[in-house]
Amino acid sequence: MTDHNWWKKSVVYQIYPRSFMDSNGDGIGDLQGIRSKLDYLQKLGVDVVWLSPVYKSPNCDNGYDISDYRDIMDEFGTMADWEALISDMHHKGIKLVMDLVVNHSSDEHAWFIESRKSKDNPKRDYYIWRPGDKDTPPTDWGAMFGGSTWKYDELTGEYYLHMFADKQPDLNWENEQVRKEVYDMMAFWLDKGVDGFRMDVINMISKKEFLAPYEDFVNGTAVNKPYKPNSPRLHDFLQEMNREVLSKYNTITVGECVDINAERAQLVTAEDRHELNMVFQFEHMSLDQQPGKSKWDLKPLDLMDLKENLSKWQYQLSERGWNSLYWNNHDQPRIVSRFGHDGKYRVISAKMLGTLLHMMKGTPYIYQGEEIGMTNIKFKTVNDYNDIETINMYNERVGQGYNEPDIMASIYAKSRDNARTPMQWNGTDHAGFTTGTPWLKVNPNYETINAEQALKDPDSIFYHYQKLIRLRKELPVVVYGQYDLIAKEHPDIFAYTRTLEDTVLVVVNNFHDKEAVFEWPSHISHDDADCLISNYPFDLKQDLSSIKLKPYESFVLKCRQK
Ligand code: NOJ
Repeated sequence: MTDHNWWKKSVVYQIYPRSFMDSNGDGIGDLQGIRSKLDYLQKLGVDVVWLSPVYKSPNCDNGYDISDYRDIMDEFGTMADWEALISDMHHKGIKLVMDLVVNHSSDEHAWFIESRKSKDNPKRDYYIWRPGDKDTPPTDWGAMFGGSTWKYDELTGEYYLHMFADKQPDLNWENEQVRKEVYDMMAFWLDKGVDGFRMDVINMISKKEFLAPYEDFVNGTAVNKPYKPNSPRLHDFLQEMNREVLSKYNTITVGECVDINAERAQLVTAEDRHELNMVFQFEHMSLDQQPGKSKWDLKPLDLMDLKENLSKWQYQLSERGWNSLYWNNHDQPRIVSRFGHDGKYRVISAKMLGTLLHMMKGTPYIYQGEEIGMTNIKFKTVNDYNDIETINMYNERVGQGYNEPDIMASIYAKSRDNARTPMQWNGTDHAGFTTGTPWLKVNPNYETINAEQALKDPDSIFYHYQKLIRLRKELPVVVYGQYDLIAKEHPDIFAYTRTLEDTVLVVVNNFHDKEAVFEWPSHISHDDADCLISNYPFDLKQDLSSIKLKPYESFVLKCRQK
């Protein structure tokens, strides 16, 4: 019988191809490089790989600006390389998820090249054009990478919309033909064997509710609203996409959704609504920024906020809908530097963070290097950074009079390049990532933090993650158990239970670099407790009614309901 819920039991590993492994010495990771590391992924035990975009792209946003959705970027290899990769992966029992970036394309995509040409070009309406004089953009919306969302195009004297960089024009999802092109392209990859999609900023595709129609601009009656993602029309589009494409295949789908709350996420992921399997939400990733400000405006994380937030998502999606679980991706700083301790307690705190996340209900995502505890980078000057978002922010803030050390402090904490320094494979030059010059410098700590070293050490973060993955496969309670927050008021401990029938997992994590005492919850018996995983040796013979935890100590005990 076909298992249509395999994605609930899976662990996904994200590869950012540019930074994973370079096979030909040009300093850029590639498909053959990934192929050469499949044994490593198999050893870790992951079920699925999500590949960040590998399509043709001028790389203004490292592949998130696509100029041909049906071909492979030259730096990464050829379609034959991609076919060899998916075939090897499938032989090893690993599924492949591709990135679907269809809120926008590149301005070098053939559709946009046509669309620009004239107001009556058949592809004009594939993108979002509005009239306006040269100095006044159609709305005051701000783009994600700084500046206005509108770019004036001299050729036809109109503006086009770009929610990200100006080389990333937004596709017009109101145009039926555009949607058909997208669905055909999805079928093209699914027919080639891909197992699903991670959908880039998918909740931004509908703008109709906020942007006045073209005619109203021409008549001078345009009334625009402030732009917000999550328009109700999103659900029409996702249901159509599901009907037209996804329902015909056995896929995993995860939609990246900015500013989505748990109620809306439930609508997107409820199985009976036939939209997506899960979303990437961002609430827990914004708890270390000042409320109402940008990610660059830093604030220390308050553990109570994190407990409250992650628990809210666990409860909201417990019966209907499904969660994704993640700490890291190619846009986020490294978790051990962010919420853990990347000095003395690097290994211990990385394991604690892994346990905390992987024992929750949902599908966990591991970002390359997380499994060996890779850390943030501090390049001396902004010139060593590559990320468009980082560089635009730097220039904008310099212009606004911020002082350099403050700007650099934000970059050190939040730049996307923290995640993008090359994967650290071993202690040789450039961490064994390339024999050439890497496109982005390697983190100098590669001599001690690398995969070779981790594989040699039975007590490494790698083997801890391997065990977490194995537990998910062995114990249905990890996949299906009910989540409940315990020790709610404790300022240092993030603890919860997972319950399925009479099995209870007690998951205890000391989140801070000091000792803390965990008082055993009276409704659970610890008589036959068994320790499934821990980051310090765990003594089951100690008095479990009150447990003294070491800094960042974490363990999972399997117990019985009283
Ligand atoms: C989200 C992606 O994760 C990010 O890397 C990209 O810059 C934007 N979407 C635009 O595609």
